[in-house]
Amino acid sequence: MKIIHTKALLAEEITNIKNRSQRIGFVPTMGALHEGHLALMRKAKSENDVLVCSIFVNPIQFNNAEDLEHYPRLPQQDISLIDSLCDVLFMPSANEMYPEPPAESFHFGLLEEVMEGRFRPNHFNGVAIVVNRLFAMVCPDMAYFGKKDFQQLAIIRKMTEDARLPIEIKAVDIVRETDGLAMSSRNKRLSEKAREIAPFIFQTLTQAKTLTSTKTPQEVESWINEQFDNQKEFQLEYVQMVNGETLENMSDYQAKSIVICLAVWLDNVRLIDNITIKE
Ligand code: PAJ
Repeated sequence: MKIIHTKALLAEEITNIKNRSQRIGFVPTMGALHEGHLALMRKAKSENDVLVCSIFVNPIQFNNAEDLEHYPRLPQQDISLIDSLCDVLFMPSANEMYPEPPAESFHFGLLEEVMEGRFRPNHFNGVAIVVNRLFAMVCPDMAYFGKKDFQQLAIIRKMTEDARLPIEIKAVDIVRETDGLAMSSRNKRLSEKAREIAPFIFQTLTQAKTLTSTKTPQEVESWINEQFDNQKEFQLEYVQMVNGETLENMSDYQAKSIVICLAVWLDNVRLIDNITIKE
């Protein structure tokens, strides 16, 4: 694996790959890598000639200074984990990505207003700015994103479509721990006790899914709210059953794609998860 820290050296490497007519699969990450990230990388590697990954804790997508400060950074561990899988790893500094404060502004309508957008102002603009810049540098044929960050995936698809970028966006299923907890770099920040009870999140989503055969979307959302109200260690920030394409609220089950998304605080750590009701 080649490790590259600058745009100039990355540009040279990408030119060489393109000159060999090789297809590039790209997986952007913020590091503290786990099996969820590896699933994206394995899929990208199997569908392309060259796998390019990036690790960059993007300061402008954090709307909470404490979250940015405590975000796990494990570069050496990350490098050894992906050394034999990834061909090129781009690890820029903040100064390399943002020599000037970034001034771009992306707009995604409802897609950025609901759920995460309500609680993390400007978060998706920060995500879109960095992914757009990384796309311009890496020039991938295909880029891979996890369904774990369901709303982010919708935003990236829209950004790619709006700019007519010749990049195929691929979605990868959520990878979970054996007890159901969705893998996340932030899980590393949970205390032992919090980690033990964290599977409650996916258990609740799984039960909620079974209720969709008898209850309306609003009733299912209320039921989830009640479950979390009864577990004082958890503070549910939002739960929403949405149309998986438009992220509009559901009043029935007519839409082609339906997902229940939630964000919850546990032990001062903010976790997100979702479950597909209809693909
Ligand atoms: P990060 O949280 O590191 O995630 C990188 C990619 O891994 C994202 O596409 C995310 O959805 C996916 N991922 C994380 N956990 C997963 C899991 N349990 N199962 C499947 N996929 C999972 O998302 C970001 O970084 C950043 O916002 C980024 C896109 C890199 C822009 O800064």
